[in-house]
Formats: sequence, structure tokens, C-alpha cells
Amino acid sequence: MPARILELAGADIHIFATPEDACRAAAAEVARAIDAAKKARGRAVLGLATGRTPVPLYERLVAMHKERALSFTGTSTYNLDEYYPISPADPRSYRSYMDQHLCRHVDLAPNRTHVLDGTVPEAFAAEHAALYDRMIAAEGGLDFQLLGIGRNGHIGFNEPTQMPVDEALKLPTRLVVLHPVTLADAAAEFPAAADIPTRALTLGVAPILAARSILVLAFGPKKAEPLARALTGPMTAELPASLLQSAAGRVTCMVDEAAAGGLE
Ligand code: GLP
Repeated sequence: MPARILELAGADIHIFATPEDACRAAAAEVARAIDAAKKARGRAVLGLATGRTPVPLYERLVAMHKERALSFTGTSTYNLDEYYPISPADPRSYRSYMDQHLCRHVDLAPNRTHVLDGTVPEAFAAEHAALYDRMIAAEGGLDFQLLGIGRNGHIGFNEPTQMPVDEALKLPTRLVVLHPVTLADAAAEFPAAADIPTRALTLGVAPILAARSILVLAFGPKKAEPLARALTGPMTAELPASLLQSAAGRVTCMVDEAAAGGLE
């Protein structure tokens, strides 16, 4: 149970004592989303995220699966992003992350777990990204999108830009150049600075915001400022998480007390 619930910019904010408490509630939300989508249209399509934030959520989903309280049959997943270039076999790839934290432990069919391909030749990257969007559309769109927030306010790897809001809202899945703050954060995963990929493939702002429900997780004091700006400031492409305001009514944030520090 959240300690408190707020409503800001059309989003419900559930504030929990700890990330583990939030992730228990988030796992229940994922299970509900799968169930509701399968009842409504015979399949469930989930957009999934990586990073440190959702690790306890995946632990909980795996535990629920082992307790036979959750099945992923009839479910497809599409991950938000992937470094570029990177091999899926690289332990730092998001494909490896998903395998380690979720896929190998549950009944997700391997051909239904989609991650953008960090080995696609650059000449085909745009085509690969466009195909990813078409595959999601062909499955009827995302029923549920899980999101974290970068310290610079990115969602997926949609980094801060100067473009007008109406253009940013239309951004499709594509190859992007990573922002200096993102590169600094990636240094924890890539101890040799020269190994940090400077680019990535990311689900676009448009397909993210088109999801029928969006669950944002944010934990720790470093997320307090971007979260508060996203929910209480103006919509701006300089803080991509603020674009979530255009999905008002479909967004839930599950956060801990530290990340909620700037909200009240
Ligand atoms: C990463 C990912 C995002 C993630 C965000 C926050 O670089 N590309 O999808 O949500 O940045 O990461 P973390 O949860 O580790 O703070």
C-alpha cells in the first residue's frame, strides 16, 4: 500500500516507503495489465525498461511466476532501448539484462521478447527502428509501458533537445546520440570509458506515449528534481519526461519518499 497518493498533471503519484514496496505494487499492476489486455483482446503487449530502477520489479515478477501467480503466455514484450553498437551477447547489453532479470526465468516465448538490435548495420538502423514501430502497431499497440527517468529527464533514450513540443511528441523509434549525463551514468556499467557506446536505439516518444497505460518508477534523491520538473513544470523537449503530461489520465508514478522529495 502506498503511504500517500497525489495527483499532478493528470498522473497518479503513489509514494511508498521503499523501492521494494513500490515494486511489489508495480508487479501487481503488471499482472493486472496482462490480465486485462488478454481479456479485452486476447493478447498483452508490454513495453519494458532496463536500468537499476526496475530490478526489484523483475525479481518480484519472477517470484510471482515461480509461485504460479503469473504467466506470460499470450504476452509479447518490446524493450525501450538498446545501446548502439553492442552485441546482444555482451553482458552490458539490454538484451542480456532482460535475459538475466526476466526472460530466462519465466514462460515468455523467445520470439515474443523484442529488443532493438544493437548489431544492425548503420545503413539499416532507420529501417530497423521503423520496423519496430510497425511491429508494435501490428500487435495493436502497447497495452502497458514501464518507464524509468534519467537524471536528465530522459525517457528510454529520448534525450533532452531544443525542438518544439509538437515535434518532440511525434518522435519515432530511432538511432540517437547519448547525452553527456547519460554517458556519465553509463560509466558504472562500462568501467573503461572508451567502451561506453555513444549512441543508442530508442523507442520514440510517440509510441511510448501511445501506450494504453504508463507506469513510471523513480527511486532515490537523484530522481527528485527531474520527477518534480516533469510533473510540475511546463511540457518541454528539454525534459522529455515532461511530455508524459500529454498522456494525462493514463500515467501512474510509483516512487519512494526520496524521489518524491520535490513534489510537496
Ligand atoms: C537508462 C535507460 C532508461 C532508464 C534510465 C534510468 O539509461 N536507458 O530506459 O529508465 O536510464 O536508469 P536507472 O534506472 O538505472 O536510473
